[in-house]
Amino acid sequence: MQTGDPKIIFGADYFPEQWPEEVWHDDIRLMKQANVNMVNLAIFAWALIQPDEDTFTFGWLDKIMDLLAENDIDVCLGTATAAQPNWLTEKYDDILFVRESGEQVAPGSRQTYCVNSPNYRRAAQRLAKEMATHYKGHPALKLWHVNNEYANKNSMCFCSNCETGFREWLKNKYVALDKLNAYWSTVFWSETYSTWEQIHTPRASAGGRNATKLLDYKRFLSESFYMLYMEEVNVLKKTTPDIPITTNFEGDWSKFDHSLFKDDLDVVSWNCYPNPLDPNARKWVALRHSMMRSLLGKPFMLMEQAPSQVDWYPININKSPGLMRLWSYQAIAHGSDSVMYFQWRASQKGAEKYHSGIVPHFGEDSRVYKEISNLGNELSKLQDIHGSTIDAQVAILMDNDSWWSVDNPYGKGNKSLDNETFWAANGQPFPTVLLNYFGELEYYFNAFYNLNVPVDVIPVHYDFSKYKVVAAPLLHMIKPGFKEAVETFVQNGGTFLTTYFTGLIDEHVGVFLNGYLGPLKEVLGVTVEEFDPLPLDGTNRMIMAANPDGFKKEYGCSVWCDVSHVTSAKTLATFGEDYYKDYPCVTESQFGSGRAYYIATRPDADFMHDLITKILKDQKIQLHDLPEGVEIMKRKKAGQEIDFYLNHGKDAIKVELPKGNYENILTQTPCKHVLQLEKYGVAILRRIDENGK
Ligand code: GLA
Ligand code: ZN
Repeated sequence: MQTGDPKIIFGADYFPEQWPEEVWHDDIRLMKQANVNMVNLAIFAWALIQPDEDTFTFGWLDKIMDLLAENDIDVCLGTATAAQPNWLTEKYDDILFVRESGEQVAPGSRQTYCVNSPNYRRAAQRLAKEMATHYKGHPALKLWHVNNEYANKNSMCFCSNCETGFREWLKNKYVALDKLNAYWSTVFWSETYSTWEQIHTPRASAGGRNATKLLDYKRFLSESFYMLYMEEVNVLKKTTPDIPITTNFEGDWSKFDHSLFKDDLDVVSWNCYPNPLDPNARKWVALRHSMMRSLLGKPFMLMEQAPSQVDWYPININKSPGLMRLWSYQAIAHGSDSVMYFQWRASQKGAEKYHSGIVPHFGEDSRVYKEISNLGNELSKLQDIHGSTIDAQVAILMDNDSWWSVDNPYGKGNKSLDNETFWAANGQPFPTVLLNYFGELEYYFNAFYNLNVPVDVIPVHYDFSKYKVVAAPLLHMIKPGFKEAVETFVQNGGTFLTTYFTGLIDEHVGVFLNGYLGPLKEVLGVTVEEFDPLPLDGTNRMIMAANPDGFKKEYGCSVWCDVSHVTSAKTLATFGEDYYKDYPCVTESQFGSGRAYYIATRPDADFMHDLITKILKDQKIQLHDLPEGVEIMKRKKAGQEIDFYLNHGKDAIKVELPKGNYENILTQTPCKHVLQLEKYGVAILRRIDENGK
């Protein structure tokens, strides 16, 4: 994306409509002072722009657009479709989405619309068209911001429009009802459909539901969001073909399949809200930055982060001094070309009044404004980073279908062992409520991240042949073509890694017979006969078969044990307890010139460290065992490496540098041998020669 001069974008969501006009001039003054170069405008302004069905009023928006243009502040213009006006909701009774209980959501908030409401969609498209026609050629307009956080609150709708749409989608997919009955295995519990009209939305029923149907429904809604997006995109592209387009994603990708958007986004942008109370916040963030970067394989935008506290965790602590700056640089280090915030000025009224803003209620003479304007000034001097890339040699595969078929509500903060909640999320009972697709993906990501190795997180159907190591934890579903892709990858020297609860079902949710791991049995050289979930605090032992270099004699493991048999693989470790004592728990298969690993349990972190270290070393991938809390990431531009050192710790620390001469780009000072990082300190280094060039 080109948004003007090469620079790091710095700015915020800006809601001038919440303030009297005289404040706008003060806003501009403070923005200039902070080096703000872009704002997100009009995101929730539909009702103001279109007060009734036949009237569009752009007066106030024109004024602020002009004011921003005069001050060289670019605009990422919202299409304003995320919160529809009351007149629209009142006029058409299908606008508001319907909950699984059958109750229609009450108006009075945002994201209350049904994704398949034709009346909402027509109105949204019309608004986008009016916006584009009106602002075509405006000097401030540099980027479109379509809607806002798709599916944030309205990811699942059960209304009659969705039901009809679902039937059409199914007809398209299965053509004949017989085929649907076969793929959905409706012979089970007498579910056979004899007319399409008997198919309803998959609401909670008396007990387990049809998991294939539920999965198809999630696929259908996912595509519905994509089509909704495309209706606006088509209008914008037609009217303003030169203006790039984005929509801001959340960090939770379970609500829809984000890979559907891939070819129709000019830049990925996202809203990053880690909880400063979470000791692993930096890992939480790193994984999500990696997902955003990997979707298009190019720099992304940090579209929103909190200037200090948010208002929607149960307890919202501030970002203490220095933390906001550190996390801003962490975003850049992971591939962001922007640092933006929600929001510019803390609201005086409305539901989000206790959410921090760059200009807090206290005003400009505040810690938060000062820290942010200092950062803005610092970033405005950073010339060499915009557009640089990250070369990851490791990829983790992410699959929405596998996720949707073992989604774990506990992973989203529900810690109680409530079986019903787990069933409801997946439509059917499971061997254990401790299965957690995204949790496992996160566990593997962290194992690489802890060794400071960049990891791309790519959708499972992407081409992964360019990587050296590919991990696919808990890949419940194996779809056509995947077996061949993995086999070719390993054959050609790649390292593949997978875990328990992988390869159990096909794309129609039918279990693979004659051994789990299904189509991956050959490449892994192992097959699974049965599985044994462990009790909540249950453990087993992992005994290393030989005593290979870099490993201890034994480790602990939990959650799950597969009872498996090797065919052609080598057993690296066996279980130490239970009737499957001495059965394999980690195997390594030589396949062509590469290797494929299978891990039959959830190993403790020390094993993960040792195994991932071995795998990286075997593949000659550079890892960095840095002091706890220190992170390094490298971006590359025109053959030059830019090294980001980030100290997430609360104490100053010294880091030994690899041999060579460096310049710290932030301080413009040379450095060598040892780098001193303050609490939350950041250094950005580039190599220079003896003469400082
Ligand atoms: C989301 C939304 C914003 C705002 C913030 C608050 O990211 O996109 O409009 O509500 O959350 O954290
Ligand atoms: Zn609906």
